[in-house]
Amino acid sequence: MNWHIHDYRENDLAAVVHLIDTTAELGQESVFSLAECIGALTSRQPAVVAVHQGMPIGAALACVSGERAWVMRVAIASGWRGRGLASALLVELERKLVAARVGRIAYVLPEEELLGEGLLNAGYTRRPAVAYFEKTEPLHGPAAGLLDDLGGRLLPGDLWAKVAGMEREKDLIERRVVLPLAEPERAARHGVRPPRAICLFGPPGTGKTTFARAVASRLGWPFVEILPSRLADGGNLAAALRTAFARIAELDRVLVFIDEVEEIAPVRSEPAQPGGLHGVTNELLKLIPGFREGDERLLVCATNSVRSLDPAFLRPGRFDYLIPIGTPDKAARAAIWSRYTDGRPEVDIDGLVLASDLFTPADIEHAARVAAQASFERDLVAPGGRGPDVAAPGARTTDYLAAIAAARPTVTPELVERFAEDITSHART
Ligand SMILES: Nc1ncnc2c1ncn2[C@@H]1O[C@H](COP(=O)(O)OP(=O)(O)OP(=O)(O)O)[C@@H](O)[C@H]1O
Ligand SMILES: [Mg+2]
Repeated sequence: MNWHIHDYRENDLAAVVHLIDTTAELGQESVFSLAECIGALTSRQPAVVAVHQGMPIGAALACVSGERAWVMRVAIASGWRGRGLASALLVELERKLVAARVGRIAYVLPEEELLGEGLLNAGYTRRPAVAYFEKTEPLHGPAAGLLDDLGGRLLPGDLWAKVAGMEREKDLIERRVVLPLAEPERAARHGVRPPRAICLFGPPGTGKTTFARAVASRLGWPFVEILPSRLADGGNLAAALRTAFARIAELDRVLVFIDEVEEIAPVRSEPAQPGGLHGVTNELLKLIPGFREGDERLLVCATNSVRSLDPAFLRPGRFDYLIPIGTPDKAARAAIWSRYTDGRPEVDIDGLVLASDLFTPADIEHAARVAAQASFERDLVAPGGRGPDVAAPGARTTDYLAAIAAARPTVTPELVERFAEDITSHART
């Protein structure tokens, strides 16, 4: 027994992956994939490594779930099989698992696996009545193709947290939309029916698209954006919409987003204009009830111009909530400026907040980019190629203030007034 076994360390990763990779075909397969093994190793699940003369010759790894641990792999280099190394690795792994308060250790092996004998010797009991069944979840299976066809995808999980400021809107959307959908049974106990369709309205650049994506991210649902310009493709938009919704109905859960919805559901003029959107609006009106029948789905429409939408389109049976998304208030601007100045302490956030009244998040993002560019260009022309601010690189407060002064904010006082009227006449929260 001339090997040494140590606890897994970060710099063992490559060697252990190599061992798992090269021993898979020796019958040392597992129900856990290589990717899952790597995931367990990098998230510091229990693992041990055997070394002979500095060379890794074996490894054992597990993942812990409550009081039970699953042995994911025992990988032994080919020359070292049948010498008791597997049992030695298991003993060390079990020591770690017991220390982690694991009460039961399970190891699922392929039928023909040679390790079976060793496991019996190590005190494991074979459970002959147990058969291992596995199902691949739809998103990795056929639905993934469907989602691809629809141009949909799963978004990163942190988009909700990344929405800076906008606490009022965030809080409202969380309580009315996210929580009933995330906890439908709890909502049902109070007679709350989760929303199936909402419309976000407000001036350009206030974060409507950002919110729609953040809700999908928060729910962990795939995000499918319907782009009328792409759907129509010169042909029949109403028919294309029908097809898109039929395909969407095949998905288990989904957030469907239609941006600038006023372009496809404008007030219908009488009589219908040839080549107009009458038929498209009618089609959408017909599609929404069907969409609403499914669980785990949400339609989010966004518009800059809620007043030009067809009133029938917006009525309560179709849209549960019409939520205004306005320009950020002071606290929200402070949060957004902090985001775009990377929280650098030397930047006077209060000064920027005061100077950027009526700025949308998009305006702030743009001004921050202009300031960063100015700082970069100053650095380039500095003597010796090194700017004066090597210690505190990046744009300064004066750069940001200059960018704010030069910016043309999207939202004018007239727009603010119109938005206030829209809130009075349309908001439903
Ligand atoms: N709360 C926020 N925090 C940080 N950045 C934000 C926030 N809201 C929006 N942004 C940024 O501002 C830009 C515009 O946002 P978004 O596209 O969501 O606005 P919109 O209301 O959909 O605009 P439009 O009406 O033009 O479609 C994006 O780059 C987005 O990342
Ligand atoms: Mg948008």
